[in-house]
Amino acid sequence: MNIDTTITLNNQVQIPQLGLGVFKSEDGQETYNAVRWALEAGYRHIDTAKAYGNEASVGKAIRESGIPREQIFVTTKIWNPDQRADTQEQACYLSLKELGLEYLDLYLIHWPVKEKINETWTVMEKLYRSKLIRAIGVSNFNPHHLETLMTTAEIVPAVNQIELHPLLVQTDVARYFSGKGIAVESWSPLGRGALLANPDIEAIAEAHGKTTAQIILRWHLQHGYVVIPKSVHKERIISNCDLYDFELTADDMHAIDSINKDFRYGPDPETFNF
Ligand SMILES: NC(=O)c1ccc[n+]([C@@H]2O[C@H](COP(=O)([O-])OP(=O)(O)OC[C@H]3O[C@@H](n4cnc5c(N)ncnc54)[C@H](OP(=O)(O)O)[C@@H]3O)[C@@H](O)[C@H]2O)c1
Repeated sequence: MNIDTTITLNNQVQIPQLGLGVFKSEDGQETYNAVRWALEAGYRHIDTAKAYGNEASVGKAIRESGIPREQIFVTTKIWNPDQRADTQEQACYLSLKELGLEYLDLYLIHWPVKEKINETWTVMEKLYRSKLIRAIGVSNFNPHHLETLMTTAEIVPAVNQIELHPLLVQTDVARYFSGKGIAVESWSPLGRGALLANPDIEAIAEAHGKTTAQIILRWHLQHGYVVIPKSVHKERIISNCDLYDFELTADDMHAIDSINKDFRYGPDPETFNF
């Protein structure tokens, strides 16, 4: 396993297992720098969304990095108002325009807007077939959301991006989606930073001579999840990808799994109201 390790999606597209998240990275210099530093450090996967308001800075950093476009995996997401207004297709074109890119590697339904799941997915399938997107997927889906989607879908989603970290291990949800060949991607993998002072994780970090962030990120990798930690600080971006010179033992993995309290930092897909 190394920073170039990829997971093969259900349509054979390769997604780098580690990526940089940019939620709450400010549009402009902050996001631009974070993406440039990440690419310099070896990351080849960036996760943004229309709702983050920073696609333009992400795209600029990618274009100016000098790294060939096809070596960087770019994800963005369709925002809820575009689902409700039936402007899904235009939303994709707008994201491409903001990013200044000719295609997306992964386009996700950001949240399961219940009454629009099927309509939105039909548009995503059309965009996929037109080769504007290399893979299509979902985010914040529980099993019943997928069941709804599959009543009309012709293409099985490649990914489900969900909140997942040691306080919310989502064992059943992750197993359900993996069992259907859908890659699980962890958002807020560090619990928005709040998990970094967890004493159980600190003890494991000390034993391995690594930071708590590195221990948590390695736990995601060893579970086989795609993971997209966010930071706007160069030294953190660099240390968050220094994950490949140690291995968590089965006991370490179990100890971290046991921290779970089904605790969410973000909204619940069953009750979100935006
Ligand atoms: N699909 C969805 O609905 C959804 C929802 C939320 C997030 N996401 C995606 O998932 C990505 C990651 O989630 P997230 O941003 O919510 O949270 P996160 O990655 O769990 O945590 C980010 C926080 O931890 C801090 N941090 C990062 N590395 C650190 C380190 N080594 N030491 C100390 N602090 C550190 C960051 O601070 P600094 O930036 O100040 O360094 C930031 O405050 C997002 O950026 C976004 O791309 C998706």
